[in-house]
Amino acid sequence: MRHILIVGIGAGNPEHMTVQAINALNGAEVLFVPKKGESKAQLADIRRDIIDRYVSNTRIRVVEFDVPVRETRDRSYDRSVDDWHAAIAEIYENLLKDNVGETDRAAFLVWGDPMLYDSTIRIIERVRTRGRVVFDFSVIPGITSLQALTAVHRIPLNLVGKPVEITTGRRLAESVAEKGRTKVIMLDGEQAFLKVNDPEAWIYWGAYLGTEQEIVISGPLHEVRDEIARTRAEARARHGWIMDIYLMRSGADFDA
Ligand SMILES: C[S@@+](CC[C@H](N)C(=O)[O-])C[C@H]1O[C@@H](n2cnc3c(N)ncnc32)[C@H](O)[C@@H]1O
Repeated sequence: MRHILIVGIGAGNPEHMTVQAINALNGAEVLFVPKKGESKAQLADIRRDIIDRYVSNTRIRVVEFDVPVRETRDRSYDRSVDDWHAAIAEIYENLLKDNVGETDRAAFLVWGDPMLYDSTIRIIERVRTRGRVVFDFSVIPGITSLQALTAVHRIPLNLVGKPVEITTGRRLAESVAEKGRTKVIMLDGEQAFLKVNDPEAWIYWGAYLGTEQEIVISGPLHEVRDEIARTRAEARARHGWIMDIYLMRSGADFDA
């Protein structure tokens, strides 16, 4: 039976690649690499760099594919994402039919880890359920942007015995601030941290983590938030794109 490997490749630094991920790529007949829009060409370059560095089996074919843009007009957020996943599922189905022999192995290279704000697993499951291509699949974990963030700031993710919430910029305003609870915010196009009004909160922010452009800023939210907003806007204008993530919390270990 065909076997699909969904391989986490780390969040920007080619050295994030695990031995398991390297072995998975080298054990495949074909590698599927998503192309991003012009502005994010650097992400495609990082994937190519990973293949050049670690894939020693020269018989492996690399197949690049375009990821469609999500349509948002005239539909709810859920509808928009569902339609988008359906379009990508169609693309995956054709990629598998056209490129993967019935007993071959193929790998999808996925940014960070496939379980974190990434839909490759659910889309592959959707293709499998449709039953037009028969295959099984496995997931190989990768280093996430969240791990890259906590490592560069040299902090543990959680306060002692306290919970962590991972959410998006869109949802940050909806969740209630609670002392001791750590919040990690990803996919924040609106700089939701600017709206948070908590005089005790600290923020640990990072952009382009693991890459040559990496920028990190941390400190009390009310002191550094304007600097983060300014730095973010300048970097985005300079590079034409940005990927950033941050962690916020108030309180300390062993607070009552
Ligand atoms: C679609 S999610 C993919 C997350 C990925 N699966 C992971 O494990 O990190 C993209 C978001 O991840 C975060 N991100 C990914 N790579 C990053 C990096 N190198 N530096 C900063 N943030 C990053 C950003 O919040 C970005 O908006």
